[in-house]
Order: sequence, then C-alpha cells, then structure tokens
Amino acid sequence: MIAADPAHAEVIAALHRAAMPEDAWSADAWRSLLSAPGARARIAMDGTAPAGFLHLRCAGGEAEVVMIATHPSAQRRGIATALLEDALAALDGGTALFLEVAERNHAARALYARFGFAPVGRRPGYYRTPSGRQDAIVMRLRTTRRSFPE
Ligand SMILES: CC(C)(COP(=O)(O)OP(=O)(O)OC[C@H]1O[C@@H](n2cnc3c(N)ncnc32)[C@H](O)[C@@H]1OP(=O)(O)O)[C@@H](O)C(=O)NCCC(=O)NCCS
Repeated sequence: MIAADPAHAEVIAALHRAAMPEDAWSADAWRSLLSAPGARARIAMDGTAPAGFLHLRCAGGEAEVVMIATHPSAQRRGIATALLEDALAALDGGTALFLEVAERNHAARALYARFGFAPVGRRPGYYRTPSGRQDAIVMRLRTTRRSFPE
C-alpha cells in the first residue's frame, strides 16, 4: 500500500473510472481533493499495478470516507477490506467515521456492514444514475477507543 498525494491524481482517477464508469471524477477534481486539508489517501498495489484506493477526509475528530474503489479485475480479493483496515488503524480511537453509499450499491453496503457501519441518515434522491435517482444512506462507524495501561 502506498501513500497517495496530488501527484497520484491521474492514477486514482483511472481506478475510479474503471470501478465506477457512470460516476467518475476528473483527474483535476482528484488533484484538488488530494490537496485539501485533512486528506489521507492510500493506493493498494497488486504487484506493480494500482488495484484500489481509499480517500479519507479528517476534520475535527471526525473522518469521512470520500471514496473507496477496487479495479474490477481485482475485486473480491480483500483489497477494499485491507484499505479500510489500514484507514481505521490510522484514526485516533473514538473518531467517528462517516460515509455515504447509494441505496442499491449492494457490494459496498455488504462491505460496510462487515465492518459494523450503521445507518444514521438518508438523503433522498442524492445520486443521479442512469437508472434514475437513488437515495444516499449515511453510515457511521465509531472507531474503537484505545485503552492504555495506567
Ligand atoms: C465496493 C468495492 C470497493 C469492494 O471492493 P473489493 O476489493 O472487491 O472488496 P473486498 O474483496 O474487500 O470484499 C469484502 C466483502 O465485501 C462484500 N462484497 C464485496 N463485493 C461484493 C459484491 N460484489 N457483492 C456482494 N458482496 C460484496 C463481501 O462481503 C466481501 O467479502 P467476501 O468476498 O469474503 O464475500 C468494489 O466493489 C468497488 O470498487 N465498487 C465500485 C466503487 C464503489 O461502489 N465504491 C463505494 C462507493 S460508496
């Protein structure tokens, strides 16, 4: 896994486009997201090939998964799981981690359910997709507060 910075905008945009062709963001958009305060991104490698990425935004004791995606040729091999585990390990214990997911994105919802994300809200018609509008489900995971020996 490698730390991503704005110089990786093209790589991340290409992974995003491969995984979500109907809703990809441009390399310029990624460059500005990766430059924003509180941004933390990691790229998972499959040998020498970028296979997936996760981008987090951290602010004020909260964090948000802005995007997670795995290249279609590398899906169902634990890459998103490894990216999320890495992100959770990097957060201070007790940080609330939020994300938004389209109601009918069953793959992502199954992934998040395995980590214990719970729904905390709904944004009606938030996503515009080729098959019409979809609600966004807002989910939260409270990271484990670490205990230290006295
Ligand atoms: C969602 C996504 C990131 C999962 O990536 P991945 O690397 O394939 O995920 P993992 O291999 O770590 O899967 C972990 C678990 O999530 C669930 N899961 C993942 N993909 C699934 C699918 N297509 N259908 C059902 N469950 C799925 C399963 O429980 C899986 O465990 P299993 O393989 O042992 O059954 C990937 O499908 C993707 O890139 N989708 C397009 C982008 C996207 O929708 N991102 C989320 C935006 S909110």
